Amino acid sequence: MTDTGIVNVHGRRVWDSRGRPTVEAEVSLACGATGRAIAPAGASRGIHEATDLRDGGNDFGGQDVKGAVANVLGPIAGAISGLDAADQNSVDQALIAADGTHDKSQLGGNAMIAVSMAVAHSAAAAAGEPLYRYLANGREPTMPLPQIQIFGGGAHAGQRIDIQDLMVICPSAKSFSQALDMTADVYRAAGVVMAERDRLQGVADEGGYWPAFDSNEQALETLVVAIERAGFVPGQQVAIALDIAASEFYRDGLYKLTLDDQAVDADGFAEKVSAWIERYPIISVEDPLAETDRDGMIAFTRAMGERVQIIGDDYLVTNAARVRAAVTDGACNAVLIKPNQAGTLTETRDALEAAHQSGWDAVVSARSGETEDVTIVHLAAGWGAGQLKVGSFARSERMAKWNEALRVEEALGAKARFAEHRSLSAGV
Ligand code: PGA
Ligand code: ZN
Repeated sequence: MTDTGIVNVHGRRVWDSRGRPTVEAEVSLACGATGRAIAPAGASRGIHEATDLRDGGNDFGGQDVKGAVANVLGPIAGAISGLDAADQNSVDQALIAADGTHDKSQLGGNAMIAVSMAVAHSAAAAAGEPLYRYLANGREPTMPLPQIQIFGGGAHAGQRIDIQDLMVICPSAKSFSQALDMTADVYRAAGVVMAERDRLQGVADEGGYWPAFDSNEQALETLVVAIERAGFVPGQQVAIALDIAASEFYRDGLYKLTLDDQAVDADGFAEKVSAWIERYPIISVEDPLAETDRDGMIAFTRAMGERVQIIGDDYLVTNAARVRAAVTDGACNAVLIKPNQAGTLTETRDALEAAHQSGWDAVVSARSGETEDVTIVHLAAGWGAGQLKVGSFARSERMAKWNEALRVEEALGAKARFAEHRSLSAGV
């Protein structure tokens, strides 16, 4: 066996930011190097994502992961022991073969992604390199432009507003750390504005302020006020990014906006989002139409794709074939990259490369259920994704990632490349 041969695969149950069980994997190599990673969990999940294997039954609301952990210890350990951790593709193909399903429902996408990421960590440790450097494989790492949530919503805030995320992007930032500095001011200003208006009610699942608004549009207006209050020019220095997560309120061909007391068809909803883009400094929109509404996505991208970044999350589920199909159709113009949607690191990377090969930007993203695991920061920098989205500017499962990115930027030193706004210049 080579030095980087896998000699042990361990799994354990740990807890995520919502207090739910999740899977941690730890991989040991012949040379003594180890790697560890934790699976995150989504709340607004795409129908085509890799399956999160949960036990059901009574324990922890059916969310327990005893079965997934047992799969790490049993069949997964059996399938990859002796393989070379430095050959991520072969390890991931062995995981895929051992699972044998199209949706990873046998072994569990949560078990598989924890192991797949732990393997990468162990191989980087064996090489004596930080993970981002190992993943960059001789290319220059690039610091991503962050999308940072200010108000939560949708499935992350009890459907209190229909839009799921109201975020900021700092197109004027010259470095990753400067983008964080600017966002910190906007986040603080947003808290002051919410308190002044007697609407400060704590934070949602990803750390953004709980959205105590009377309409979806009021959330947009308040965000512009917060940007101004922080001393920035909306649109020029700090712009808005939305994750609409429209699948969450799409039923029987209609978009049902509870807060606005409206039910509209795809054209009607696209018009509404387009009107927001006209009136507010929005430069990026994720999942503007439902994941099953291909025609709607194509029509919206045709109408607005020159002006704004249109990201497929639920629509593309970090799947290279779906990305290629969407490139052909013109159904979005950027991809969200969530490793646990794919279930292995190799498939995650394939989806990102399919996007980059077509000139699309890629946004590496956390889930709403997170932990202290910071792997995605290394993927974003090492693979040069372009952008990174990990939730808001509060709660340590979010801050752990922003802080890790600061460490990476510092390690890269003065010559650190920063993705800036590239394809996001539209509308700015
Ligand atoms: P999720 O949402 O992790 O709850 O699925 C995040 C997103 O939609 O980007
Ligand atoms: Zn999303």
